Amino acid sequence: MTKKIFVTGGIGFIGSHTIVELQNAGYDVITVDDLSNSNIKILDQIEKITGKKPEFEQFDLADSAKTDDFFKRNNDIAAIIHFAASKAVGESVKIPLHYYWNNLVSTMNILKCQLKYHIPNLVYSSSCTVYGQPDHLPVTEQTPRKDAESPYGNTKRISEDFLNDSIKAYPGLKAIALRYFNPIGAHPSSLIGELPVGVPQNLIPYVTQTAAGLRDELKVYGDDYNTPDGSPVRDYIYVVDLAKAHVVAINRLLEGKNKSDYEIFNLGTGKGSSVLEIINAFKKATGVKLKYEIVGRRAGDIEKIWADTSKANNELGWKAETGLEETLLSAWNWQKHLEENK
Ligand code: WQD
Repeated sequence: MTKKIFVTGGIGFIGSHTIVELQNAGYDVITVDDLSNSNIKILDQIEKITGKKPEFEQFDLADSAKTDDFFKRNNDIAAIIHFAASKAVGESVKIPLHYYWNNLVSTMNILKCQLKYHIPNLVYSSSCTVYGQPDHLPVTEQTPRKDAESPYGNTKRISEDFLNDSIKAYPGLKAIALRYFNPIGAHPSSLIGELPVGVPQNLIPYVTQTAAGLRDELKVYGDDYNTPDGSPVRDYIYVVDLAKAHVVAINRLLEGKNKSDYEIFNLGTGKGSSVLEIINAFKKATGVKLKYEIVGRRAGDIEKIWADTSKANNELGWKAETGLEETLLSAWNWQKHLEENK
């Protein structure tokens, strides 16, 4: 009997790439998305890639009644991957209440329904932002979490606490929190990729839209940080490598290979790149020279972070395989696909 995985936020960037890898691994998928920051056409694109269209329902997972009704009607779920959340660091500083409500109430609704409908397995989409600005780099899973520099990061840290406290209190629950670094790029088919609604908040979609002439120039938020070239450093990981890690985590839970009921893994490449290095790597990968201007720092940003990936490498047997230039080229190919299919 094929196992069914419930993917929340599956029309989104990381969710859609993960559905492809889950289907490739032989799982059935049902997804829920409120389409607030995603486009329903992605479902057709997933079907073009895998030949299978995931089941889909549209509603807000912060709506307790609708979420409970969904679980009541879908009693064949083997595990859940919870992506659905608002995710822009800069935006969260401007509208914190939306972020706390959307990200935290949806997580509580998922946990409540897991207990009520006896669905023990959860993979949670966490984030390196729970580390705030680390005192030491690279960060391991034991690096103390800090008050995040943004409401977005706080919602990830608080959601992790929901998981940890619930698992301690309610027997039978087990979860894996995956702390992503900076997911970028697009599926090699160029049929799915990052599809921000409105002005992109994240660096790479802004880069590719600038390269496509949709934006005049890229604003680089600060070059006065304590980094080699002054611009902030992040650990940019190819979204397909990241998606594959979710299949590994689901298999681990369903096969009972988890070593404890609550496990945490950093998902990064282990390498930091600055914004200016990204601009240079993009030119090398695509031949496109970006117009950019150095401006002031963005509220909520940290200076630098990159992952110690040894725990995921050793315990999950997973490693980010794709290089930065190949990843940036995939993002550019996706942008060109969007332009050609407007
Ligand atoms: C990256 C760098 C900006 C836009 C992301 C996700 C978050 C989480 C962590 C998964 C920063 C700079 C950006 C621009 C710029 N991922 N920048 N000009 O803030 O690290 O957070 O990774 O959970 O969901 O949002 O990513 O892409 O916004 O910024 O200079 O127009 O690029 O200052 O240094 P961030 P980002």
